[in-house]
Amino acid sequence: MCGIIGYVGRNDATPILLEGLRRLEYRGYDSSGIAVMNGSQTIQVRKKSGRLQNLRDHVADSPAEGDCGISHTRWATHGEATDENAHPHTDRSGNLAIVHNGVIENYQTLREGLEAEGHEFKSQTDTEVLAHLIGKIYDENSDESDPQKRLVSAVREAVKQVAGTYGIAAMHTDAPKFLVGARLGSPLIIGVGNDENFLASDVSAVVSHTSNAVYLNDRDIVYITEDEFRVETIDGTASSYEVSEVDFTPEQAEMGDFPHYMLKEIYEQPESIQNCFRGRLIDEEASAILGGLNMSPNELRDVERIVLCGCGTASHAAMAGEYIIEHLARIPTEVEIASEFRYRNPPLNKNTLVFVISQSGETLDTLAAMREGQRKGHKVLGIVNSVGSTIARESDGGSYLYSGPEIGVAATKSFTSQVTMFALLGLLLGRMRHLSVDYGNKLLEEIRTLPAKVEQILQQDEKIKEIALKYIDAEGMLFLGRQFNYPTAMEAALKMKEISYIFASGHASAELKHGVIALVSETLPSVFIMPKDSVYDKNVSSLEEVKARKGPCIAVTTEGNTELEKTADDVIYIPEVAECLAPILAVIPMQLLSYHFAVARGCDVDKPRNLAKSVTVE
Ligand code: F6R
Repeated sequence: MCGIIGYVGRNDATPILLEGLRRLEYRGYDSSGIAVMNGSQTIQVRKKSGRLQNLRDHVADSPAEGDCGISHTRWATHGEATDENAHPHTDRSGNLAIVHNGVIENYQTLREGLEAEGHEFKSQTDTEVLAHLIGKIYDENSDESDPQKRLVSAVREAVKQVAGTYGIAAMHTDAPKFLVGARLGSPLIIGVGNDENFLASDVSAVVSHTSNAVYLNDRDIVYITEDEFRVETIDGTASSYEVSEVDFTPEQAEMGDFPHYMLKEIYEQPESIQNCFRGRLIDEEASAILGGLNMSPNELRDVERIVLCGCGTASHAAMAGEYIIEHLARIPTEVEIASEFRYRNPPLNKNTLVFVISQSGETLDTLAAMREGQRKGHKVLGIVNSVGSTIARESDGGSYLYSGPEIGVAATKSFTSQVTMFALLGLLLGRMRHLSVDYGNKLLEEIRTLPAKVEQILQQDEKIKEIALKYIDAEGMLFLGRQFNYPTAMEAALKMKEISYIFASGHASAELKHGVIALVSETLPSVFIMPKDSVYDKNVSSLEEVKARKGPCIAVTTEGNTELEKTADDVIYIPEVAECLAPILAVIPMQLLSYHFAVARGCDVDKPRNLAKSVTVE
């Protein structure tokens, strides 16, 4: 949430910052802004509410040039999406500018203190308060003659007074070609270039300039010039760091010929699923290998209980994971919404294994759940997509999804890879317990067929689009499934509501008669996810109950099962697959359905209203 990019080098900063913001826009799109400095002249600030194009137009009318600058794309927390509330914010003197990602929880108290000293504020943001605080400390420290040291020290002293989270970049007219960054709870990286360096919230902002990055840790303070950088702890001692290679190319983070990132990422699923299981299937043992778990076979055998924590789509994948692990490994497994887990005090014994699941590896609630689990002495493993992210670095081990960058705000390929990962985990743990070689081999075979089966589903895109258009005036939609596909129904409903803004809810099919059926009407379609599996007949009864009340029904079922064409209004077919892997296939037509539905209704599917990717605030 909120994207930051800062630049120091020999080139014109403005186009670099605007390009970086384009790559970061998925993190927030309520407003954007840049602050650029040339030599030690004044800081030129340009900022605009609304989409990045508004800022581009503004900069075209009122150019800002310089070889050092900071910029920001905002997901509003404090104060509406107005020009005044857009970042960068300056201090009282106008000589210092900052951009900020995170929430300053004690900003009101700080603001009142500063107002009492005569500071006047132009915005309602917590960030402007931090700008004034840093500026005040800077101005008061006139004993320090080196402006660079003075700025670093002002940032350090200011953040010590802050309660909350921050990833910031700051600059001052006294210190040309010099940026200071700091992080606590909100991600910040250094992009290490040749004769140029960057600060950014994530590597996608800098990947077209450099593939070398330093992932900063909480409470790090960093400064960059064009040819060097230094990472310090909050008390000023040098911090250790590693320069890592970025694991994707700029092209992978582009839309290519697709009209939206979401559609591109839906179409990438044959490959992303393959990448998830590549090298992890062990034929000789009819099992899977997940080396990153850092656990010996004996430790894995001792696991008595598993807790899966995540938010949104990741929590739906975890729900599928609960069914899969219990089915394959018979280990009691439960899902905890990360934001609940972090404030609960669930009884966990020493043989409980906690997993946190996160595409971005930066979701604040999930990160906090991980730290809470660790604080209580548990091993917490990560299932993460973003290499080098905070969860990836701080977890006690885990496995990467290797899905490549997911930029569309609606998660798609990360869901199918997360569920694939649970199949691998269930197989690994199951084979250490009761699961037979035969079953293990069968599952390996089935996992290998997934990419081709996903391709087959994608070929029905046109047909799914027609179905979406048929229901374009629907006031809402119900999604129903049982067992392994109850989580699919939850995920399908989330996709529909987040990108098309219609009411949608996902339920276990049998729950219909306990209340939900009251919603059924001729204008509210129900989508039944009902492959020909062990609960198929039960789903048929639920579908009949809806039809008896004149509710339109769309069924997703297994190829060859044409009998549903007699009862359902529309039928979408998915290839046959092992029951526990069905969510991986069944969710694909649901992603396409919501995509086409939202596009036809004129919604911006890659930037749905009020949302942003990577939720780094509480
Ligand atoms: C929905 C969506 C969100 C995320 C959630 C967790 O399409 O994208 O619900 O799944 O914010 O994000 P990660 O997986 O990055 O922790």
